[in-house]
Amino acid sequence: IKLWGVIVTIDGNAASGKSSVSGGVARALGIPYVSSGLLYRAATRLGLEAGLDLERAEALLAHLQKVPLRLEPLAGGNRVWTGERDLTGELHQSAVDAGVSVVASHPEIRAWVDAQLRALTPPFVAEGRDMGTNVFPHAQAKFYLTASPRVRAERRAAERPEDVDAIEAALKERDHRDRLQSAPAPGARVIDTGPLTLDEVIAEILRGVEEARGTA
Ligand code: DC
Repeated sequence: IKLWGVIVTIDGNAASGKSSVSGGVARALGIPYVSSGLLYRAATRLGLEAGLDLERAEALLAHLQKVPLRLEPLAGGNRVWTGERDLTGELHQSAVDAGVSVVASHPEIRAWVDAQLRALTPPFVAEGRDMGTNVFPHAQAKFYLTASPRVRAERRAAERPEDVDAIEAALKERDHRDRLQSAPAPGARVIDTGPLTLDEVIAEILRGVEEARGTA
């Protein structure tokens, strides 16, 4: 199938399986996968390193405009570089997890992330919270993944030695903090991933992409 210029958006809340799904869809289509969350995480990591107060958007933005940050979209997931240093492996630390919602709540920082994403050349899969609503409202194929907090907590608990109730409570807290930027885009296909395997979710999205292309 011809994918020139196609943008596929995959949004959803924390631990909905977005990144595994997006990686699988991008690999199946043979196009790059871009995680917008990684840019918010990179902004957080760089702010923490510089000893900045993450509540203060202006100073953080001024810092981000000075450090060279580069997004490298790859089929397996994008990497984020600052100069010659690959930051990607440092972006899921608990200090970053704890600070990223505050950073993502600043309109100035959101505009900075959006500009970097819009500078990329399609085709690609864009994953995050507001890809289909704000960043790429004209994307040809849009998806929104949901699952109950319990299901998401159980999936997380299978990956790490933590209590499922504690994970569920933390996820609800994050949903609440992220709620403003997380809603299905008009025209998005909403998929409840609860009863589905990873491969089934990927297959459903690939069918949706096919259909969107048929009607384009
Ligand atoms: O998807 P993730 O866990 O890597 O996202 C990290 C944080 O960034 C999360 O708190 C929500 C925020 N985020 C956002 O506000 N908008 C996006 N498009 C992507 C992520």
